[in-house]
Amino acid sequence: MSVFNRLVALTLPFVPKPIVGAVAKRYIAGESLDEAVKVAEDLNQAGFLAALDLLGEDTTRIEQARQAANDYSRALDEITTRGIDAYISIKPTQFGLKVDPRACLELIRSLTTRARSKGQFVRIEMEDSSSTSETIELFRTLRGEFSNVGIVIQAYLWRSVADISAIADLKPNVRIVKGVYVEPRRVAFKDPRIINRNYVLMAEELLRKGAYVAFATHDELLVWEAFRMAEEMSLPKEAYEFQMLLGVQAELRDIIRDAGHRIRVYIPYGKDWYPYSVRRLRENPEIAGYVMRAMLRGE
Ligand code: FDA
Repeated sequence: MSVFNRLVALTLPFVPKPIVGAVAKRYIAGESLDEAVKVAEDLNQAGFLAALDLLGEDTTRIEQARQAANDYSRALDEITTRGIDAYISIKPTQFGLKVDPRACLELIRSLTTRARSKGQFVRIEMEDSSSTSETIELFRTLRGEFSNVGIVIQAYLWRSVADISAIADLKPNVRIVKGVYVEPRRVAFKDPRIINRNYVLMAEELLRKGAYVAFATHDELLVWEAFRMAEEMSLPKEAYEFQMLLGVQAELRDIIRDAGHRIRVYIPYGKDWYPYSVRRLRENPEIAGYVMRAMLRGE
């Protein structure tokens, strides 16, 4: 990223919200479940699987967490009714992890029960490092009860290799990501080369132990590494999948699909779009151009 782009990325929190919204539109299906489901249907038709993410995090009241659980229940119903090939992807802090961990566990447990009754899957996402241990604990508890639940592990954390070893006995379904939250150096690697090597190390370890791996990345090098692992380990197509975010690297997405691999697109929707959009814009190499053009147009 150029110095100018980096500067714009750093100053994003000061950019007026409507401008962030205008330039971040490409990453979000819309505010309603209906819009998200339509995007999922179109993606299914084009040969992609889908994951629905109701935007929202860091809930401060348990009533909000209950509301999120109700909204996700509706998403499960809609997926079933419309016969969509999709699952739901949830953030523990949206379910009250920081407010009432017990209530959070109960809410996710009943959502996962409901998902199981419909033959559907629940992905528990990984947020910043203040909740890593609790999230893994939550996953461990639920994995003991359900087979339709998976987790996310971040390659940028120093601790992740140990975390992978600790959950390997669960034959987990793991989405591996680089990690998106801003973390101090004592917690997360800063060198992108190390993050990539750690990503590959973790994927190999998991695959060797019989876990299901979701390679969530837009990094062509990591996609190549995943192709290599699949080839070298003679993995059946059902042992892994790729995942990408809506609005990012559509061409690479098509290449992966056309090569015959399973690939899922992550579809965020909902009213609470701001923190997610800021994270996406920070990662976008053309960010300065987008933001500047939007400012000049007075959006
Ligand atoms: P990298 O950031 O190096 O990007 C590779 C290339 O992709 C870049 O060179 C750029 O061209 C392009 N690119 C990436 N992001 C872009 C953007 N926003 N706009 C335009 N181009 C872009 N993180 C986390 O901490 N917890 C989680 O639970 C999840 N969940 C998750 C689900 C899915 C399906 C994905 C794909 C990602 C996540 N992430 C996540 C985010 C993840 O940690 C990471 O921040 C992003 O995927 C970007 O990392 P890449 O591996 O794509 O590499």
